[in-house]
Amino acid sequence: MMRYPAELVNPLRRSYEGHKVCVTGGAGFIGGHLVDGLLALGASVTVIDDLSNSTLAHLAEQIENETARLRFVHASILEDAALAEAVEGCRVVFHLAALGSVPRSIDNPERTWTVNATGTMRVLEAARAAGVRRLVFAASSAAYGETERLPKVESMAPCPRSPYAASKVAGEQLFESWAHSYGLETVSLRYFNVFGPRQPAGSAYAAVVPRFCEAIAAGQRPVIYGDGEQTRDFTFVACAALATMQAGGIERPLAGEVVNIGSGKRVSIGEVARQIAEAYDRTDLVPEHQPVRAGDVRHSLADITRARELLGYQPFIAMPEGLAITIDWAQEPAKNHQPGH
Ligand SMILES: NC(=O)c1ccc[n+]([C@@H]2O[C@H](COP(=O)([O-])OP(=O)(O)OC[C@H]3O[C@@H](n4cnc5c(N)ncnc54)[C@H](O)[C@@H]3O)[C@@H](O)[C@H]2O)c1
Repeated sequence: MMRYPAELVNPLRRSYEGHKVCVTGGAGFIGGHLVDGLLALGASVTVIDDLSNSTLAHLAEQIENETARLRFVHASILEDAALAEAVEGCRVVFHLAALGSVPRSIDNPERTWTVNATGTMRVLEAARAAGVRRLVFAASSAAYGETERLPKVESMAPCPRSPYAASKVAGEQLFESWAHSYGLETVSLRYFNVFGPRQPAGSAYAAVVPRFCEAIAAGQRPVIYGDGEQTRDFTFVACAALATMQAGGIERPLAGEVVNIGSGKRVSIGEVARQIAEAYDRTDLVPEHQPVRAGDVRHSLADITRARELLGYQPFIAMPEGLAITIDWAQEPAKNHQPGH
């Protein structure tokens, strides 16, 4: 369980204690941390997840500790009856279920669209029918695409460069339009490269930090697509989870706002590889460079002014500390690890 700064988390207790909430995709990487945080704040949590990109490993343990306050619905968000059951009586729905990864969406755009865009509309409709007050959407920095200006500010026009990015922009727009058409309180959080414990490695679609950790731990050279000078804004998972709880819990009304969730700092992919190799004492494992992947953007950096002002967000763990926590976790005994897919 992550430690959150008391001054940030305590004001949220009132919004969650004794209330029912739903987390779609709650068996996943960010969802699992969110569920932990919500349970710690006293909420009763229903998770709906089809386990297509996760396992029940982490949640099963939580269910054992919290039989009365954690319920798992093993179903797709595309199954209407199961979705209706999952959101019933909930004050807040956190919609994180999606097919992630730009390369996956390039390989199978229709599946990405169905789950990420159509699925998002289904979640909004189920929530509307159930009288849910607020919905929080896991949007993505991918919405910005290849814009010249840095940092990326929410007022910039979206520029989706992959089917994944397009599906996430569609999700935001559905969220905004459902706020205006039906009076639901909605907000979309554009997460920037989230990393941390329990992020799965082991697949071509895995994120960069677990991919590098896995390769270096196995004595292999990490693979960098491109020259390694491309930059990303890495967000530690506890910061993303807390921002998500803030978005679901703050008192002020919301109506479809889009909000960047990042660290406000950027680091090159080559530098990430170097820091991980150093932590493993394997600086001899020089990265192997492969061609740039379709849909990848060159630079990414969040302007987090709106998140600070609207949500009271603060990135309280910076990249070096977050990496150290992640690497410590990765070196724990295998029983704690979810396999990648
Ligand atoms: N990790 C990041 O850096 C990042 C960045 C931007 C946005 N996001 C978004 O945040 C959310 C969570 O990302 P994550 O990194 O935890 O990914 P994840 O793959 O670990 O979590 C997504 C979960 O959704 C589930 N899922 C997929 N399709 C489903 C369906 N049809 N019905 C029910 N459940 C389904 C998966 O099994 C998985 O448990 C996603 O919406 C993702 O697009 C993540």
